[in-house]
Amino acid sequence: MNLAATSSRVALVTGGIGGLGTEICRHLARAGARVIAVDLASREERVAAFRGEVASFKGAITFEPVDVSDFSSCQQLFARVEQQCGHVDILVNAAGITRDASLRKMTAQQWHELMQVNLDGVFNMCRNAVEGMSERGFGRIVNISSVNGQTGQFGQTNYSAAKAGVHGFSMALAREVARKGVTVNSVSPGYCDTPMVAAVSAEIRAQIVAGIPVGRLGSPADIARAVAFLAADEAGYITGANLPVNGGYFMSF
Ligand code: CAA
Repeated sequence: MNLAATSSRVALVTGGIGGLGTEICRHLARAGARVIAVDLASREERVAAFRGEVASFKGAITFEPVDVSDFSSCQQLFARVEQQCGHVDILVNAAGITRDASLRKMTAQQWHELMQVNLDGVFNMCRNAVEGMSERGFGRIVNISSVNGQTGQFGQTNYSAAKAGVHGFSMALAREVARKGVTVNSVSPGYCDTPMVAAVSAEIRAQIVAGIPVGRLGSPADIARAVAFLAADEAGYITGANLPVNGGYFMSF
C-alpha cells in the first residue's frame, strides 16, 4: 500500500517556494497530487528559480501568488484555483517568518508582522478552505508549527506564541470538522537546513545543533515526508495531532 497516496487530489502549499515549502510540493506531487505552490509574487527571482527547480514535474507543480496575511488575497486565490484546477483537497500552511528579538527589545511592528503571517495566515487560508472540504466530505489540512512552539526559545516570544497558537487552532478546527472527512494536524519541525535557520548566528546555531540527539539539522525532506504522510487519503483516522520531527530535540510523555 502506498501510504502517501494523494492521487488526483489538488493541494495548496503556502510558503510554497520557501525553505520547507518546495520540498513539501515535491513530495505531494510524487504522491500523485496536482500541487499549487503559493507565495508572495514580490519574490520574483525566487519564483523564477522555483519554476526551474520543479520543471521536471511537467506541470504537476505550478505557482500562484498570494499574500497569506491578507484575507481577500486568500479568497481570490481560492476562486482562481477552483476555476483552473478544481476543488482544493489538501491545504498545507507552511508560510512563516521570524522577527527574532528578546521581548525587551521587540517592537510592536515585529510582533504584529509575525502574527499576521504565521497565525492570521493560517486562519485566512483555512477559513477559505474548510467549507468546501466539509461539503465534499474530504479534506486534509496540515499546519506547520515548530518545536519552539512547544519549548519556547530565547528571542522568540512572538514566533513561539504563534506556533503554539497554530497547534491550538489545529486541534479546535479538527474537532469542528472531524465528522466531515476533514482532518487537521500540525507538524512541528525542529531546526532544519533552511535559510530561516541559517539566519541565526553561527555561535547560537552550533549550540542548538549540539543539543539535537540525532546530531544534525533536519532536512526539508524529513519534514515533507511527515506532511505527505498526514495528507494521504489513508490518514483519515489521524486528526488534531501534532507530529514533532526534530531529531529528538524535544521529547515529551
Ligand atoms: N540563550 C540564552 N541567553 C541568551 C541567548 C540565548 N539564545 N541569546 C542572548 N542571550 C543572553 C546574552 O548572553 C546576554 O546576556 P548578558 O546580558 O548577561 O550579557 C543577553 O541575553 C542579551 O540579551 P539581548 O536581548 O541583548 O539579546 P541579543 O540581542 O543579544 O540576542 C537574539 C537576541 C538575536 C534573538 C538571540 O537570542 C538569538 O539568536 N536567539 C535564538 C533565536 C532562534 O533560535 N531563532 C530560531 C530561528 S529558526 C526557526 O524559528 C525555525 C524553527 O521553527 C525551529
